Amino acid sequence: MTTPGQSLLEVENLTVHHGQLCAVNDVSFTLSAGETFAIIGANGAGKSTMLRTIVGLHPATSGRILLDGTDVSATPTSKRLSKGLALVPEGRRLFPSLTVEENLKVGTHRARPGPFDIERVYALFPWMVARKRQRAARLSGGEQQAVAIGRALVANPRVLLLDELSLGLAPVVVQRIYALLPELLADGVTILLVEQDVTQAMRVASRVLCLLEGRTTLVGSPKELTRAQIEGAYFGLADERETTVESMPP
Ligand SMILES: Nc1ncnc2c1ncn2[C@@H]1O[C@H](COP(=O)(O)OP(=O)(O)OP(=O)(O)O)[C@@H](O)[C@H]1O
Ligand SMILES: [Mg+2]
Repeated sequence: MTTPGQSLLEVENLTVHHGQLCAVNDVSFTLSAGETFAIIGANGAGKSTMLRTIVGLHPATSGRILLDGTDVSATPTSKRLSKGLALVPEGRRLFPSLTVEENLKVGTHRARPGPFDIERVYALFPWMVARKRQRAARLSGGEQQAVAIGRALVANPRVLLLDELSLGLAPVVVQRIYALLPELLADGVTILLVEQDVTQAMRVASRVLCLLEGRTTLVGSPKELTRAQIEGAYFGLADERETTVESMPP
């Protein structure tokens, strides 16, 4: 068990390409156990590529990913999952013809021992019980997002990576999903989330990192960042140098 504040996930000088295109360019950050860290940035900034590379779905060109001090850069995705890195991908990616419960079972395949199992997911989302035999394709976007989160949780991740939870969902649904995060943190899950909705990211994150065309333009705690700094980093209006606002994780 990692104690709160101890560094859990380290991304060191990560560079990732899609063919000729450099999607993530020399990005480094450290995630402490128990924090909520948000990566923000406009369309195409490299946010999804970053998360997919951390879990091993896309190869890094250079750089390292360390979990608890162990280099997992060459570890296959399934092993990274059993070591505690679980991704809720952009667009949910459920198996549409499988039922709710079958989708959740997929997540138990490489599960670590821990507080989350299918029953616990049903306790978090009580509506799922009556609909566990329904096909995922018949669920609303918000319901599908909940199943996608449940599927990642049953693996008992140490770091839960969330890619644009709010995409395509009504604000009230987004609020309900974000309201779950404190409960997950209380159970020892560390959260790395990607958001295009900057206000939402600022509300929940202890620290944020802004990407612009694959490069880090800003790192800091929401409390210490001004709106002008964030807008400058997000849209590339400020000078090109990276701004770091020193902060302590909670
Ligand atoms: N499979 C792919 N093949 C080629 N280029 C890709 C691929 N996936 C992403 N890219 C490109 O890499 C860059 C980063 O894309 P990525 O999806 O990581 O950005 P993002 O920040 O997640 O954007 P969004 O907010 O739209 O989800 C973009 O220029 C994108 O067009
Ligand atoms: Mg994306």
